[in-house]
Amino acid sequence: MELKRIVLGVTGGVAAYKAAELARLMVKTGMDVQVVMTEAARHFVGAATFQAITGHPVFGDLWDDRVDNGMAHIDLGRGADVILVAPASADFLAKLAQGSASDLLSTLCLARNCPLVVAPAMNRQMWEAAATRRNVDLLRADGVTLIGPDSGEQACGETGFGRMAEPGELLEALEARFQPKRLAGLRVLITAGPTFEAIDAVRGITNLSSGKMGYAVARAALEAGAEVALISGPTCQTPPPVARLTRVTSAQQMLEAVEAAIDETDIFISVAAVADYYVLNPSEGKIKKDAHILTLELAPNPDILANVGSRASPPFCVGFAAESENIEEYAELKRRRKHLPLIVANDVREAVGADEIQLILLDEAGRQVLEKADKRTQARRLIGHIALLYNTRHP
Ligand code: C5P
Repeated sequence: MELKRIVLGVTGGVAAYKAAELARLMVKTGMDVQVVMTEAARHFVGAATFQAITGHPVFGDLWDDRVDNGMAHIDLGRGADVILVAPASADFLAKLAQGSASDLLSTLCLARNCPLVVAPAMNRQMWEAAATRRNVDLLRADGVTLIGPDSGEQACGETGFGRMAEPGELLEALEARFQPKRLAGLRVLITAGPTFEAIDAVRGITNLSSGKMGYAVARAALEAGAEVALISGPTCQTPPPVARLTRVTSAQQMLEAVEAAIDETDIFISVAAVADYYVLNPSEGKIKKDAHILTLELAPNPDILANVGSRASPPFCVGFAAESENIEEYAELKRRRKHLPLIVANDVREAVGADEIQLILLDEAGRQVLEKADKRTQARRLIGHIALLYNTRHP
């Protein structure tokens, strides 16, 4: 990602202390952060904190003469990719909605030529007040993006909507904005997580799979502008805001969900760790434990990806191959057997549940190694590669 310039506006609210963490996260991801504080914000957190974190002096005064031409309200916003106000107090939302230019930050927002994102933070009743509702509607109509507020415990002791979105969530939203929209207008179907095949009412067989990679791929496809449908086996992951989320348990259910969606799919990415077998005649109740050997009869599950890959006119299909030895050789064999233009190979010993992995992409043109990185980064790189191959085939 090329260097992004962010103006971080901090207004008066208890959540201002979280803005310091947000600034640190943004700097860590390589963003250039210029902090502008309101007078009220300085009552909650010191400018020196932001100065140390961002490496830039903090501005707050409309009449600050540190900016050469005395035009801080114009100059600080020049070249910014986005202005993010976090926390944005009720008072500041009101100023924005009215187009007020009574201090440096509100003036900068009015004089901007880049997108404006705000993260409101205030007491629950202030957020619910009719005047704030009106202001929020006006801001949305003006094209301002609001993130949060979240619901939860507040500094005032009340519980409800009004907490500022967490710094990690805000950073993620910013990064998502900056991803190139390489899959705009395309429909992407993703399977994720394990499947679970019942033995009886409480037991079953499954694969070790956290769902992290599949969910990261779904998020990256969304960021790239695709319309995403996610079919997920049982996982604890929080799903990204996809257009359609279908939760399934068994491989058979996953197959049915895929078949129901496949005709409206341009790209199918099969990340799920589908159980290879299911149990014939599972018990409806719970099997009583005794000292005897229990024999289970297993039958092979359908290969969902192979089924899709061998259709008369399949979507662009991407498979995953988790292997423990001869990784590339086995993955390439799978790619050919399942008729896939692209397969993603990884080492099963380091992949399951881990946050960082290495991926090897195998396609008609050869191999490409995506050096070890967190799954979100890998998912974005993979989506970039898929977009490249897809767009070459469909110019
Ligand atoms: O299990 P295997 O190594 O063959 O998985 C390779 C790819 O095939 C993965 O993308 C997986 O999601 C898919 N697959 C499937 N249905 C199965 C088994 C695997 O879609 N029954």
